[in-house]
Amino acid sequence: MDTEEKHAAYIEAGRHLFAQTCTFLLGARDLEHLPQAGLPEIAFAGRSNVGKSSLINALTHRKTLARTSNTPGRTREVNFFDLSARLCLVDLPGYGYARVSRAQVKQWTGLVMAYLQGRPSLRRVCLLIDARRGFMTSDRAVMQTLDAAAVSYQIVVTKWDKVKPGRRAAVQSEIRACLVPHVAAHPEQIWTSSVTGEGMADLRAGLATLAN
Ligand code: GTP
Ligand code: MG
Repeated sequence: MDTEEKHAAYIEAGRHLFAQTCTFLLGARDLEHLPQAGLPEIAFAGRSNVGKSSLINALTHRKTLARTSNTPGRTREVNFFDLSARLCLVDLPGYGYARVSRAQVKQWTGLVMAYLQGRPSLRRVCLLIDARRGFMTSDRAVMQTLDAAAVSYQIVVTKWDKVKPGRRAAVQSEIRACLVPHVAAHPEQIWTSSVTGEGMADLRAGLATLAN
């Protein structure tokens, strides 16, 4: 196979996997209720409202599989989705959302961090960054935690449709520059829009390489 054929096969494997049935498995409010580790897991992490649940819906061609909202703080549990018994997609509650009680923030952050650091079946974290905001303090803290725990993560930039074509190269260089010190970050970033579908085929293909 030449390079072009290999790339086509790679994209096709992702398209095929994500065309399979995806079902909600369970939502866990605390560590005791996580499902038994089995399938390789891909977690979607990021600030509240960055577009985690929307991305899962776009990847799986579903409108309402993961619940989305205009109001930050929509996802409050760690939600597990089974993709054709080959991969488990994990929608995490967002961090960095101020309009809830401190006790609640502490509980969610504790749950998300404990999940990210101690899950044997976790194969990759997709760390979502809003294209219009770039890295914020809370994102850097999560990246440091992942670097320290040697959990492999990939930056998935969201809401790319909101960045005008003339600004895109500048945004890309800024994001790449911030990643230099982060050793556990995947060398490639994916630039996505859950609205236009941009970047979805590449992300599906990359994730399919981690599936059973
Ligand atoms: P929490 O569950 O609160 O942590 O939020 P979340 O990260 O799951 O965000 P969610 O998917 O609920 O999306 C938040 C808002 O952003 C919704 O109004 C979405 O319609 C919007 N949104 C998500 N992705 C995109 C995108 O790629 N482009 C645009 N324009 N809007 C998006
Ligand atoms: Mg959500």
